[in-house]
Amino acid sequence: MSLPNHGANPYRLYTQLGIKPPTDILDFSENVNPAGAPDFIKNDWADYLQLLQRYPDPEGEPFLSAVAKYHDISTENIVLGNGAAEIFSLLATYFRGNNAIILHPTFSEYEATLKENDVEIQRVVCEDIVNWKLPLDELQQAMQNADVLYLCTPNNPTGVLPSKEELQQLIESAKESNCSIVLDEAFIDFVDENASFIQSVKENHQVIIVRSMTKMYAIAGIRLGYMVAAPEVASAIRKLAPHWHINGIAAVIGARCLNKEEDAFRQKACDYALQMRTSFQTFLRQNHCLVTNSVTNYMSFQLPDPVQSQSFFTYMLERGIVLRHTENFIGMEGAWFRVGMKAPEAMNRLEEEMMHWFRTNSSL
Ligand SMILES: Cc1ncc(COP(=O)(O)O)c(C=O)c1O
Repeated sequence: MSLPNHGANPYRLYTQLGIKPPTDILDFSENVNPAGAPDFIKNDWADYLQLLQRYPDPEGEPFLSAVAKYHDISTENIVLGNGAAEIFSLLATYFRGNNAIILHPTFSEYEATLKENDVEIQRVVCEDIVNWKLPLDELQQAMQNADVLYLCTPNNPTGVLPSKEELQQLIESAKESNCSIVLDEAFIDFVDENASFIQSVKENHQVIIVRSMTKMYAIAGIRLGYMVAAPEVASAIRKLAPHWHINGIAAVIGARCLNKEEDAFRQKACDYALQMRTSFQTFLRQNHCLVTNSVTNYMSFQLPDPVQSQSFFTYMLERGIVLRHTENFIGMEGAWFRVGMKAPEAMNRLEEEMMHWFRTNSSL
């Protein structure tokens, strides 16, 4: 059975697999903040409605200035995007016809967008899924003949963040090889702003950082992200974006999300992710699964016997539990599952269903 490529789209998955969806579905395949969006969005929704009739600010204000203030950088370093997804499309156009390295298993949009733009791809596979220790020699070697290296930090779907030293070493190599380095920090909000490499764009013209607003603030529906790079790189990429690509409501909501007043919201999300992933990692290890050393609000795990992966996946779907399979992740080939952290009741239900499966199916 070849499983459809899905993420956060459970009903399509049920239809494609010909399984009748139960009335009660828990979708662990998505990995946005389970707390939902900040309260102010619901409270002030009537004010946002008034923005509907107006054209948005062509520069994406007030979000642009809010990003600059939040990271203490100049607006010249910033390109706003209709989600980080748009930034990846713009980057692929910028690197059109070039040669790119992608470290797998990782987010599929890097390859998808680059291939659309005739970028030649060199795939490097990280064998250490659990700790995500980077294959530095291989990457450094490959960088000598490449224009850009894409890394997801923390990585999706493993949730592991490479060490600062490893990333620093790669940035040095990027400088020597004149190879750009794109760090996708879509999930770094769940770690610590000090782990971000945004400040390093001030000295390193090779470094491009991509950020998403949709994960921490659970606003995937309104689309908002940005990238940070040296002014000349940012300026070239900004020119590739369509006019008015940042909608007015998103720009106002995004600016407010980055306010100091939302510090408590951010801290709560990080604390919750830590608590839930620690508890679920313990549960999985007690049941002899391999688990990634995630630092985010999701993780990947492998069953004690990965040959049972497909039947386990179907069993869980029939019980209304949707996991993210990894059939289309190079280097994982379906032997792992990704799980996004949810509310405690949902996590309990997941553990109960898995316990039931372990009791009836596992040979350990
Ligand atoms: C690693 C990673 N980067 C970027 C994105 C795109 O995020 P956005 O919703 O901001 O377009 C995703 C979405 O799932 C992702 O997983």
